Amino acid sequence: MIVDVHTHVYPPTYVELLRRRTTVPYIRNFEDAPESARLIILPGEDDPATPSTSRGRPIGAEYYDIAQKVAFMDMHKIDASVISLANPWLDFLPCEEAGDAARKINDDVEGLCAKYPGRLYAFGTLPLSAPAKTVVKEIERLAGLEHMRGVIMGTSGLGNGLDDPALDPIYEALQKHEQLIFLHPHYGLPSSVYGPRANEYGHVLPLALGFPLETTIAVTRMLLSQVWDRFPKLNVLLAHSGGTLPFLAGRIESCIRHDGHLKKHGKTEGRRDIWDILKTNIYLDAVIYSEVGLKAALDASGAGRLMFGTDHPFFPPLEENTKEWHSVNANYGAISKAFGNNEEAAEQVLGNNARRILKLSP
Ligand code: URA
Ligand code: ZN
Repeated sequence: MIVDVHTHVYPPTYVELLRRRTTVPYIRNFEDAPESARLIILPGEDDPATPSTSRGRPIGAEYYDIAQKVAFMDMHKIDASVISLANPWLDFLPCEEAGDAARKINDDVEGLCAKYPGRLYAFGTLPLSAPAKTVVKEIERLAGLEHMRGVIMGTSGLGNGLDDPALDPIYEALQKHEQLIFLHPHYGLPSSVYGPRANEYGHVLPLALGFPLETTIAVTRMLLSQVWDRFPKLNVLLAHSGGTLPFLAGRIESCIRHDGHLKKHGKTEGRRDIWDILKTNIYLDAVIYSEVGLKAALDASGAGRLMFGTDHPFFPPLEENTKEWHSVNANYGAISKAFGNNEEAAEQVLGNNARRILKLSP
């Protein structure tokens, strides 16, 4: 059984919401190409110096038509998918609108899953600009929806990042209801690090480097604020094989051990270290496109904690009339190269782990 745990939708309610907006994030048909809508979501994609026809990305039905998701799954031999709203979720909504919007979008996604029994599950969306008690209420509601298996979240939390103590009631509710957090980047790094020539390089720097570093920093802040010491059963699935976490875990741990400020405040002793958390609380997707990164993820977390993903509908083939997606085949190829003859481990990563961890029906 093959399960895709990293695959997005913008359900119709969310598309309508983006179409009503004029600042990032939004969907718009520009005058110079009125027949094709564009999805503008990333910070900086709205730069007036960029021609409107290359701002953001074209958005077609593959982003919101669930039948196209299932056709994509069929083409790539994916049996089940755990769909999630794509970035930037509801982070940008005024607080008084967020609770209602989350309920509508989650119900919308739950309804999409119900159309394809056994094939679709979902991670819900939280109204993170609302007060923590509204967020907790939605977590409790999601726990009762048949197809929900956790929540997708960005790195901003309630506005101050994931090391914010104000998130504790939310972490507590997620732990209590055994809802996994799928932690996914959106904001990248400040655009100044990409330099004055950044717009010559398309989306490469923010997607290839900004996204993974954002994730790595967010998890490290959770570690430093001892989230997992307070919530030892809180589980987090990290997008893109943990960003760069598997590669940098040793350095992070060493910097903690050698930090005089942390020592003075008694924070170097009696804490759970990153290696323990990687093997107990963290799951990694296998969306890394090469066996080099996948092997680092495997060494850090173990084959029982890695799960196949595609990131569909992002990264479609650019060549016309290509059927299978290169991005998907790169992830399949990385798994078969990393595991060689160890078919059992490859099958774990391709679907058996997701089935067990996310309690999917056979
Ligand atoms: N680009 C995005 O904005 N989100 C993804 O998930 C992948 C690429
Ligand atoms: Zn993604």
